[in-house]
Amino acid sequence: MPYQYRIDALFEWITKVNGPGFGDVLDAGTGAHSLSWLATLPTRSITAVTVEDWRLGELPAIAPDARIVRGEWTDPTLLHGEQFDQVLVDYVIGAIDGHAPYFQYDYLERLRPHCRGAVYLVGLEPPPRDGSLLDQVCRVRDACILLAGHRMYREYPAELVARWMERAGMKVGDLKRFPNRVGPRFVNGQLDVAKRKLPLFGDRAVARAMEMQIEELRASALAAGEVTWGADYVIVGTVAP
Ligand SMILES: C[S@@+](CC[C@H](N)C(=O)[O-])C[C@H]1O[C@@H](n2cnc3c(N)ncnc32)[C@H](O)[C@@H]1O
Repeated sequence: MPYQYRIDALFEWITKVNGPGFGDVLDAGTGAHSLSWLATLPTRSITAVTVEDWRLGELPAIAPDARIVRGEWTDPTLLHGEQFDQVLVDYVIGAIDGHAPYFQYDYLERLRPHCRGAVYLVGLEPPPRDGSLLDQVCRVRDACILLAGHRMYREYPAELVARWMERAGMKVGDLKRFPNRVGPRFVNGQLDVAKRKLPLFGDRAVARAMEMQIEELRASALAAGEVTWGADYVIVGTVAP
């Protein structure tokens, strides 16, 4: 059974802002969630890019008519000469550092020649550094990723990304934040990421101590229940054809 679209407030808002006219659409950093939403829209065509092989198995069943492209945006030949009426950039900016370090600063310029209409950029505000249990969850996750020798996601504030869009030649319109309700799914998800990194630590004693810390933090954060913490955002850009 392929992944089914789950109603998402951000995507529903984009649908309203865009209106019914969807043409050739580019999902510039695709995944099951964004592609399942696009598959519900009356598009002329969908092109979906990812650099991750593991995603290629599940995506075709989600949107059988979409063109799924395995590619790296640092490659100048990727989608060379192609343009799209709507370009969705869904949590791509924060993910780039894990694949092509520092390229996030040039990414929107790279994307600009492929845009001839609307750009919908979805992102996550950097986690509030407020000392809360959820802040600690994110710090422990990132510490484990680093101690395993891997690279972290890196999120950027909406206003900064809006300036990058303008610098890249996109006219910025609406910017809307969506405060996040965060609870057990988030806590378990982030701490499970942390736990999966433990076998890669160089020092077993540090890994054992970290595992205890993860489970203590999990118990405290789960006991705190659901809270409003952090925010996602959508920035609407336009590029004249
Ligand atoms: C966090 S995922 C996006 C989530 C996705 N939209 C969803 O609905 O699940 C980031 C996406 O951007 C892609 N990506 C990140 N850096 C990239 C790069 N340098 N070149 C091409 N794709 C990249 C990843 O492969 C992945 O498909």
